[in-house]
Amino acid sequence: MSKVLIHGGANLVGKVQVSGAKNAALPILAAVTMLDGKSVLSNIPRLTDITTMVRMLRTLGIKAEHAGHTVKITNKGNCKHLIPYELVTKMRASFFISGPILARTGFVKIPMPGGCAIGSRPVDIHLKGFAALGANIEVEHGFIDIKAKKLKGNKVRLAFPSVGATENILMAATLAEGDTRIENAAREPEIEDLANFLNKAGAKIKGIGSEVLEIKGVASLKGVEHAVIPDRIEAGTLLLAGAITNGDITLSGINELHLFSLLEKMREIGIKIDIQGNEAHVVRNGPLQPVSIETLPYPGFPTDMQAQIMALLCIVPGRSEIRETIFENRFMHTQELNRMGAHIKVKDNLAVVEGVEKLSGAPVKTTDLRAGAALWLAGLVAEGDTLIYDIEHIERGYDDLQGKLISLGASIRKA
Ligand code: UD1
Repeated sequence: MSKVLIHGGANLVGKVQVSGAKNAALPILAAVTMLDGKSVLSNIPRLTDITTMVRMLRTLGIKAEHAGHTVKITNKGNCKHLIPYELVTKMRASFFISGPILARTGFVKIPMPGGCAIGSRPVDIHLKGFAALGANIEVEHGFIDIKAKKLKGNKVRLAFPSVGATENILMAATLAEGDTRIENAAREPEIEDLANFLNKAGAKIKGIGSEVLEIKGVASLKGVEHAVIPDRIEAGTLLLAGAITNGDITLSGINELHLFSLLEKMREIGIKIDIQGNEAHVVRNGPLQPVSIETLPYPGFPTDMQAQIMALLCIVPGRSEIRETIFENRFMHTQELNRMGAHIKVKDNLAVVEGVEKLSGAPVKTTDLRAGAALWLAGLVAEGDTLIYDIEHIERGYDDLQGKLISLGASIRKA
């Protein structure tokens, strides 16, 4: 059980570079199982979730060399069908590999993903999509067997614009026979990056970035070089670190468009953010105002930023409201923030935050990745020391958060 100790109070100042997007890198790594020959992926963030996905590729028989921010892949096309239980239970995104393997080999056997800290997260939308493409699905002894000698293009309308289901069905459809149309597709930038990557490899996908994806199936895909897009959630977390500490920081390597809904809310709160090309400069701009936020699929406010912006709202005078509409159990950070002196009441999917003058350091526990990030932000501004338990969650999704915050003047050490 690893811990960090944050001594709060420093105003963060300086410049940091945003890493590549975890949520783009993971499906792209899954997609390489469909590409023949060599691929080189760069701007890959250094995270335990990435290490898990690289291990998965190796287990499936694909050569993957991982050094720094690059993964070099050689795929000779003899991919295995069984996805190991240990890897799927470690990381839900492992399920995203089922579509590519099904399309490539005609058969995949994958453990049922269990529940996770932020809700039950079923996979029914993924499976309905595979069935629409002609796959036969059986669930037995905790495994899902998905078979299709050859997937056939079809119209697939998603019941909800699930990110993972859009990616999984999109990947499977690239190697299906004929045309597929995915309606009510999710529009997250990471899906756009995956689709652009697949098109480079020879796929024929149209409507990228929209809610209707049209895919003309191709017979094969070839290895390519690709640099993944910047991580908008890491960028947002660092912008909030500047704002919550009354700091003055510049982030480089951002994509302003991807951050639109967060920037809009931060400006409404009273934070000044100037964007010049791919750099964002954040400072506070006078008194802060409470806001109402509702999480929504992209381009709405991201559920993955809900916990972190709540940390800031804890010290914004007045009553803010946050409604979580994507996941049913994503308020676990509220109890920990309250232990640090915050005033948050939760009823169903609504959290009401009454701003307090200050937070005070306390021992707190990380329950999931973004909840953990919220506690780091709270620790940066709290009076005294915050001891944060279970930081493994943070290492799953933030590339050297500790090093980046220290370079901006934060006092953080492993405890
Ligand atoms: C992805 C992101 C995650 C983000 C989430 C929502 C990755 C690796 N992870 O997760 O960081 O928080 O999008 O933006 O990209 N659902 C179903 N049935 C399904 C699939 C999903 O009911 O078959 C529900 C889920 O339980 C959840 C909602 O749909 O309530 C959204 O889930 P989804 O968009 O699929 O999230 P993930 O792809 O798992």
